[in-house]
Amino acid sequence: MNSVPSRNQRVLSGMRSTGKLHLGHYHGVLKNWLSLQHEYECFFFVADWHALTTHYDDPSVIQDSVWDMVIDWLAIGINPSAAKIFIQSRVPEHAELHLLLSMMTPLGWLERVPSYKDQQEKLKEKDLDTYGFLGYPLLQSADILMYRAGQVPVGEDQVSHIELTREVARRFNHLYGREPDFEKKAVSAIKKLGKRQAKLYNNFRRAYQEQGDVEALEGGQALLADNQNLVRSDRERLYGYLEGGGKIILPEPQALLTPVSKMPGLDGQKMSKSYGNTISLREAPEVVTQKLRKMPTDPARVRRTDPGDPNKCPVWEWHQIYSTDEIRTEVDAGCRSAGIGCIDCKQHIIDAVTKEQAPIRERAKEYEENPGIVRSIIAEGCDEARDEARKTLSEIKRVMGLNYK
Ligand code: TRP
Ligand code: SF4
Repeated sequence: MNSVPSRNQRVLSGMRSTGKLHLGHYHGVLKNWLSLQHEYECFFFVADWHALTTHYDDPSVIQDSVWDMVIDWLAIGINPSAAKIFIQSRVPEHAELHLLLSMMTPLGWLERVPSYKDQQEKLKEKDLDTYGFLGYPLLQSADILMYRAGQVPVGEDQVSHIELTREVARRFNHLYGREPDFEKKAVSAIKKLGKRQAKLYNNFRRAYQEQGDVEALEGGQALLADNQNLVRSDRERLYGYLEGGGKIILPEPQALLTPVSKMPGLDGQKMSKSYGNTISLREAPEVVTQKLRKMPTDPARVRRTDPGDPNKCPVWEWHQIYSTDEIRTEVDAGCRSAGIGCIDCKQHIIDAVTKEQAPIRERAKEYEENPGIVRSIIAEGCDEARDEARKTLSEIKRVMGLNYK
């Protein structure tokens, strides 16, 4: 059953700091973040502990990339007054929640997450037979549940982690959302809604429970989300009562699938650090030029006078991203008739990429020259995140019976 309050507009996502960001990240994940930050309350963080699960034997790349990553985010336009940006390890509450959740998470759930075995297979050179790596998706669950995020933008490979998070939330609510006098407390919370709203709530509840009317469920959830009179514990009760269970302390998040990045690499494969076919986000223009000039083209076009076929050329895929229709038409005709050379063809891309990067490089330079600004943006983001984290954690400890004096 879907227990996500449908109006839960909070978005949270993290990125591991394991190296430089490149154009693939930009055209895939980051552009998506840019549009989300204006639509939702967003939390974006550097997942440095997650980086450590695979780089514990050589963590230097982590410290090298943390601040670069933050600068990249700021330089592309992630706006610290619209989104809260922070570093996972600076909000150690994540570790506490991870530990608490670990008490009730069956080992089998973690062993069955597909990325566990997949990554061990893929990264054979690393010893990932560790406690930390097995717990990777549960740490991610803690990241998400800590902020009661409703939407988690991730790629396809992370969907199973969100699914695990939902199961963990459900189990948590099942274990700790029970109170002996739940029904009585729920009924008295309904009274606090006010007469009209109470009646509506009861109608929604009946329609959902008697007829399985999902719209009624959503209607009830929206009503609760909008009601200003409820304290948190009553709201949790009423979310739960609506569905027939106990309190919903941790709402279940949903994956917000990031559209697959179509960004090709320099060799026609997907752009990825492990293929060595990337252009980094702030690559110097000379290097961009050099890398693009060296790109392979249609193998049949050996001499300038040989006609080519754009569909057999990796450069053509870059035109899909960077060129206007006019340029594409011109290039297509020029290639097929040998009217243009590959150098001319690539120059369009070189111009477009360097133009796209110029403002990013420029803003990044300002932050690089003023590291104090970056540090204080992060300090503020961490403070805001920590405030939110502490609220959730204290509620969690209360329902788990850990706030004894
Ligand atoms: N595991 C994610 C990745 O590799 C990064 C991550 C860590 C994350 N914690 C998260 C993403 C919480 C979303 C929400 O991409
Ligand atoms: Fe590729 Fe452009 Fe050369 Fe044609 S002209 S082969 S599309 S680089």
